[in-house]
Amino acid sequence: MSITYIDSAIDCAKETECLHTTNADPSASQIPSEAERIESLVAIHGSPLMIIDCDIVRQQYRALKNALPGVILHFALKPLPHPAVVRTLMQEGASFDLASNGEVDMVAAAGVPADMTIQSHPIKRDSDIRHTLDYGCKVFIVDNINELEKFIPFRDQVELFIRLSFRNADSYADLSKKFGCSPQQTIELIQLAKDHGIHIKGLSFHVGSQTAKPEKFVQAIKSCAQIFHDVADLGLPALSTIDIGGGFPFDYHHDVLPIDEFCAPIREALVQLPETVKVIAEPGRFIVAPSVTSVSSVMGQSERDGKTWYYLDDGIYGSYSGIVFDHGKYPIDALHREGDGEVERFPCVLAGPTCDSIDVVAEDILLPKLNNGDLIIGRLMGAYSTVTATDFNFFKKASIISLNEETENYTERLMSA
Ligand SMILES: Cc1ncc(COP(=O)(O)O)c(C=O)c1O
Repeated sequence: MSITYIDSAIDCAKETECLHTTNADPSASQIPSEAERIESLVAIHGSPLMIIDCDIVRQQYRALKNALPGVILHFALKPLPHPAVVRTLMQEGASFDLASNGEVDMVAAAGVPADMTIQSHPIKRDSDIRHTLDYGCKVFIVDNINELEKFIPFRDQVELFIRLSFRNADSYADLSKKFGCSPQQTIELIQLAKDHGIHIKGLSFHVGSQTAKPEKFVQAIKSCAQIFHDVADLGLPALSTIDIGGGFPFDYHHDVLPIDEFCAPIREALVQLPETVKVIAEPGRFIVAPSVTSVSSVMGQSERDGKTWYYLDDGIYGSYSGIVFDHGKYPIDALHREGDGEVERFPCVLAGPTCDSIDVVAEDILLPKLNNGDLIIGRLMGAYSTVTATDFNFFKKASIISLNEETENYTERLMSA
């Protein structure tokens, strides 16, 4: 699925100036309030709008990096595949996790060195393998014999991970339902790879997106540690790396541990591995979830069964698609201007623009009385939201803009490229 983005170093630089006061004498000008900044962005880019704050991407990446020292973080592009996010993380020294040719093309366009990437989709066409190899990425993931055999023609070029399945109903997406094999099948695949002269680099897993408890990671790491031992005991070629996947939870509802605490038992489990074992991870959601704010506007309103229905220019078929596909429950409010003070609120319904009656963003939300054209703000919408948006009924998808990208380095890089 493609997403629209307004993207150039010049645009981003302009936005950054909009956000921060750049006046040499701060007393000479008032720092614009968040409401003023959002209104001015809507005046430039229109509504609906998705605003990526690259500062937040940076902070989230650093928080996870600090919580998992020594672990190489491959940002999984899928929750928010945007060039500004890629460039921001590249500047942080991140590596990348790719799952399709489109993602390969995006990191290639941003100038990401191919040896900082892995292709982690367990099922690939021959053409996908070739496209990824043409870019220069040579690390892939397999979880079955059919897939392993696809790599026989490329045996001299590739390094493979075997993905294990660890079911987890207690996550937003139990990714081990669809992918991954058992420990027994893993040994068989390693044996078969040896027979074909294919290099198996290590083991990987994904314990499920938004995994609430770190124990799932700990159990999976322990199972992999056992397989590392079994491989050695069986005299099979030694494995060098473990990929602990994604799934690190973002605290949407104040019900998951802060990331450092969450990762404490994971760190403990990792130090039990032989010192020579390298560790990588594929975080997506945690890095981008809080980085995006959605702005939509009221197109119209009607009184239905004693409640006001406000019809927005964005909805379930657009940026709020995560409500359907990703258990999304985002904080939503009307744009609040400083000086508005405490306003009286009324129960109302926020509906999307399409003619489908499931296109309802919030059934019972308390909002002030709104006028047509007023702005509605959705927060924490960085992960798995815009990527699943459609343009059903030809309602245009939200424009996506990015703020606070460090454009200086980027410009320098462009000039030296
Ligand atoms: C193979 C793989 N890696 C990484 C991720 C990112 O997971 P998360 O966003 O839960 O961190 C996913 C999500 O679907 C995935 O399928």
